[in-house]
Amino acid sequence: MATDSNKFQAIISHCKEYGFVFPGSEIYEGQQAVYDYGQWGSELKKNIKDYWWESMTRMHENIVGIDAAIFMHPTTWKASGHVDNFNDPMIDNKDSKKRYRVDHLIEGFAEEKLAAGDEISAKKLLEAMNAFLAADNFTELKKLIDDNKIKCNISKTCNWTDVRQFNLMFSTEFGATTSANEEDNKVYLRPETAQGIFVNFLNVQKTGRMKIPFGIAQIGKAFRNEIVARQFIFRMREFEQMEMQFFIRPGTQKQWYEFWKEERMKWHLSLGITEEKYRFHDHIKLAHYADAACDIEYDFPFGFKEVEGIHSRTNFDLKNHQEFSKKKMQYFDNEIDEATGKPFGNYIPFVVETSIGLDRMFLLTICQSYKEEDLSSAEKQDSRVVLKFSPKLAPMKLAVLPLVKKDGLPEIARKIIDECKASFRCFYEEKDTIGKRYRRMDAIGTPFCITVDYQTKEDNTVTIRYRDSMLQERIPINNILSLVQNAIK
Ligand code: GAP
Repeated sequence: MATDSNKFQAIISHCKEYGFVFPGSEIYEGQQAVYDYGQWGSELKKNIKDYWWESMTRMHENIVGIDAAIFMHPTTWKASGHVDNFNDPMIDNKDSKKRYRVDHLIEGFAEEKLAAGDEISAKKLLEAMNAFLAADNFTELKKLIDDNKIKCNISKTCNWTDVRQFNLMFSTEFGATTSANEEDNKVYLRPETAQGIFVNFLNVQKTGRMKIPFGIAQIGKAFRNEIVARQFIFRMREFEQMEMQFFIRPGTQKQWYEFWKEERMKWHLSLGITEEKYRFHDHIKLAHYADAACDIEYDFPFGFKEVEGIHSRTNFDLKNHQEFSKKKMQYFDNEIDEATGKPFGNYIPFVVETSIGLDRMFLLTICQSYKEEDLSSAEKQDSRVVLKFSPKLAPMKLAVLPLVKKDGLPEIARKIIDECKASFRCFYEEKDTIGKRYRRMDAIGTPFCITVDYQTKEDNTVTIRYRDSMLQERIPINNILSLVQNAIK
């Protein structure tokens, strides 16, 4: 059986082999930290999205969803603080004038050491780099480059500037017209979906006649030119977020922050994952917009890591958008304040945000579900790899397998699929032995397999095989639809 680090490698290989995740642009040697979701991966991803969306919007009457554009007015990112504060370190070579991201430069050097067989120095170097990056310690990062005499691969010199900040936002130009000042046409790919919610706060509040407290939810792509982009889909340059901004009365942020911490943990546990796989991690170094923040961390094969952030964002964003746009971002609260006996009146709402990475939730789901099982008996050695997804998240809910490709069995199997496919995703397969077909369905996490055999023709029953227990029993054809529907509710 695999250890945790080779378990992770096995998961990555499994994701590729069974159509969950492929390296982006693979035929061109891939695009670093960019991945494509395959046929089963995209189904799983959609099921996670739907589960989040329905729990956040349908199950909370005071939360509505939006779908804002990725491109936003450039001033958005000045107001949000991302132009000034969303940074990572870089360095320039004074002779070649080439600019490097500090982690790329050091990693390149570590790879050379590795290629030369000096694994220990390479590992030490990367550990030191990660510690200095985490601590924003630019002096030590520069010293690491100097001490190791790391050279620019163009000038071949070690003549470096100091380490400076590098903004993580991707930018591009908007429109066909050119401007003497390039900055005029510059737009950013959004680094978080939240700002699309903030700039639409009044549109939604007014058109939806929303009363505080209320929330706006959104699922969408975000882009970050990440400095340390590793661990498969854990940290990517293009990823998806599922965010919700909850607008509240000033002074109530502590209470709502605690509410959303609890509510979001309940959501994670509702997927059948045990409590010890999760923990909260309070932020010590707060983001520029927060007065309290924590992460929900999951115990990945590479350790406890952030899946979701819960942030008390004060009124930082709305206040700044009001200042930059010169449009009032205020709410009139006509509830009576018991302390004064008068309405609360006009104010800029405070915000508590829940922000979960869809790709990280996907990785969590795969890591949690991936099992290598030893099925050996006295007679023979056997094993299987199975993805024990919660049935509501499984990409495929039901496989229908005729025992043989003749004697009317395929027709019965097709008829079962026709009756079920409007309700959930079904899979038909007639090739190979039933045993091999079961194993292929285990590998993509299909919770139920139905086998149609000769007895089916006589008494309208089929064999159902349960993925997790591998138990088999006979049930009437008429029971299949409701059995699966109940399991995926
Ligand atoms: N609006 C707040 C915000 O964006 P964040 O902690 O920077 O906060 C929220 O990001 C979530 O987005 C994280 O908890 C993580 O799940 C996901 N995320 C952030 N950067 C990511 C990346 N480079 N790749 C994949 N997911 C990422």
